[in-house]
Amino acid sequence: MDLIQYATEADGPGLAKVNVQSFQGRRLLEEVFPGATLTRVQEYKVIVGMKHLSDPNMHVLKIHDPISGELATYSRWHFPASFGPSLITLTEDVAVLAKDPVQHAPQPINTELATAFKKLLADARKRYTTENDIILDLLATLPEYQGRGFGSAILKWGMEKADASQSRIFLEGTPEGVPLYLKHGWKIVEEAVMDYSLYGSDGRESFFLMMRDPVSQ
Ligand SMILES: CC(C)(COP(=O)(O)OP(=O)(O)OC[C@H]1O[C@@H](n2cnc3c(N)ncnc32)[C@H](O)[C@@H]1OP(=O)(O)O)[C@@H](O)C(=O)NCCC(=O)NCCS
Repeated sequence: MDLIQYATEADGPGLAKVNVQSFQGRRLLEEVFPGATLTRVQEYKVIVGMKHLSDPNMHVLKIHDPISGELATYSRWHFPASFGPSLITLTEDVAVLAKDPVQHAPQPINTELATAFKKLLADARKRYTTENDIILDLLATLPEYQGRGFGSAILKWGMEKADASQSRIFLEGTPEGVPLYLKHGWKIVEEAVMDYSLYGSDGRESFFLMMRDPVSQ
């Protein structure tokens, strides 16, 4: 079996676990859902994951650790329509759930903060990308499986596709992810700062907007 596989509906809980547990050093989720347990946020992320699976331009990948079998790495790549659609389909009930995940979000939500964060990244994508660019929407490996080459294998998968089609790849990286992306040819184009003090909390967190130009073949 290939190391890198397309994720399916059945992977929902595994993907949500990676999504929530890999970013535990980051404050965003606890700021958006103050007071919610990690388990509750993970339940919600299962439904959000289904929304991504339902998007034909979003290619959702996973790697299972070959020894434990656990879903260790989760990645989402948004490709231009010219790459062809992701062929994952959802069952009818799940497709309905996926249409409006926010209905199932933990309460309370710091809506102002959540909206500001979405706008920060959406505006950045508008400034830096065109419909011909690939966007690496997410890459995360569970802490206990980090450093085993899974993240690099996924990047190689995407970089090969980008170079073959001479496409750029844009991403918003955490400070922890930046060294890996610099090593593989990304450059920082801007530091986007989420200032929590503007939304009833304190402190700030940086996201690095990064672009990789294709390597000529
Ligand atoms: C960044 C991340 C996606 C890399 O995935 P991964 O499966 O660990 O990737 P790899 O095993 O291929 O390692 C990539 C590089 O990171 C280094 N690395 C990975 N985990 C590490 C850790 N816990 N501590 C120190 N270095 C680590 C590796 O040494 C490797 O460096 P090298 O290429 O110079 O050898 C993963 O560590 C992660 O999910 N981190 C937390 C969430 C996050 O910040 N994601 C990035 C969002 S943009």
